[in-house]
Amino acid sequence: MQVASNRVRAAADSFEPIRQFYFQSRYADRRGDPGICDFTFGNPHEMPLPGLVEAIRHHAVPCNKDWFAYKTSESGPQALLAERLGQELSLPFEPADIALTNGAMAAIAVAFRLLLDAGSEAIFSTPAWFCYEPMLLAADAVPRKVRLQGERFDLDLSAINAVISSRTRVVIINTPHNPTGRIYSRDQLTALAELLNRASERIGRRIFILSDEPYRRIRFDGHDFISPAAVYPWTLISYSYGKVLLAPGQRLGYLALSPLMPSEDKQAIQDSLFAAQMALGWCFPNAVMQYAVPDLEGLSIDMHALTAKRARMTAALEQAGYDVLEPEGTFYLFCKYPGGSGEQCWDALAKRDVFVMPGRVMDVPDYFRISLTASQPMIERSLPVFAEVANAIRSERQAAE
Ligand SMILES: Cc1ncc(COP(=O)(O)O)c(C=O)c1O
Repeated sequence: MQVASNRVRAAADSFEPIRQFYFQSRYADRRGDPGICDFTFGNPHEMPLPGLVEAIRHHAVPCNKDWFAYKTSESGPQALLAERLGQELSLPFEPADIALTNGAMAAIAVAFRLLLDAGSEAIFSTPAWFCYEPMLLAADAVPRKVRLQGERFDLDLSAINAVISSRTRVVIINTPHNPTGRIYSRDQLTALAELLNRASERIGRRIFILSDEPYRRIRFDGHDFISPAAVYPWTLISYSYGKVLLAPGQRLGYLALSPLMPSEDKQAIQDSLFAAQMALGWCFPNAVMQYAVPDLEGLSIDMHALTAKRARMTAALEQAGYDVLEPEGTFYLFCKYPGGSGEQCWDALAKRDVFVMPGRVMDVPDYFRISLTASQPMIERSLPVFAEVANAIRSERQAAE
């Protein structure tokens, strides 16, 4: 007899490839062994930022009896974030535009709860972060996937336009993009905004953008960033400190409403934010993380070190015969195997204790993702292995010809 709800079963089916990878693969067996090279998830492999540790330690000491009382979006961090985000995106945020959440995942769940009814459709482009689909299914919404196009995985606006229906309520844009590292340009986003204005008119309902930007501050070569919130007023931003601080287990983030949103719509969303966060099960960050916001705002992982890792791995992998899409942002490298099946290559690397995120969990089986959060010794140990596996695949192919 069925026990779990249909929507959770649908989410579980969608999560199945990643669940198997995490709990039932050779990675599951070897994870945690200090001898492996772990390029899978965006997890830390070195000690945390000292500034983060200091901030948590400092703010864990209570200053009054209410220190650990229930905390919603506290007015102090709301005001500070409105100011800082305003400077960063050149948009006039007000404190009420910022809802503090426990990470981007909670911000995304809140946005879905705010915008989607059962049966509402949400569009996103693939390859994508593997949680959008199960999160939509768990919200009883309908995921509509379109492919990113070409070798550089650009947004395919005509494909997006083609799947818009009378039930479309939101288009998810992730920039900088996981897994490809692409940052979408102002021109692309403006064209998307025009498309969504026309489509909203056509279906008689406003289509929103959820701009998922947790890697916004992780950009290479001084690359510009433009948020969809600056070109399309009906945009909600989800953000996380888990990436820039490389501390995804200390949950902190926010959902921010574009200040350009017409005041009637913005007011309606502001008025519903509290209910959505409460009804979803207290989607607010813990008290200590809220107090720490001013200290954490200026902190970042070492971008020089990350840039050096990107250069070292890109050059070595390309030389070994892998195609690497050099990222403009994020801490990932999106790579194509030099031949053979994705499964065979992943196994060959895994047998030698080099673990990458398999593309099959993102609907791109010939690709894999490398997280540059791996330590320098892991990187150095892995490079001969990547070369050896590429050579073995080439020899096999030649022997077969
Ligand atoms: C594109 C994207 N969005 C959202 C998240 C969720 O971030 P957090 O776990 O910090 O909430 C992630 C995490 O990997 C991500 O890659």
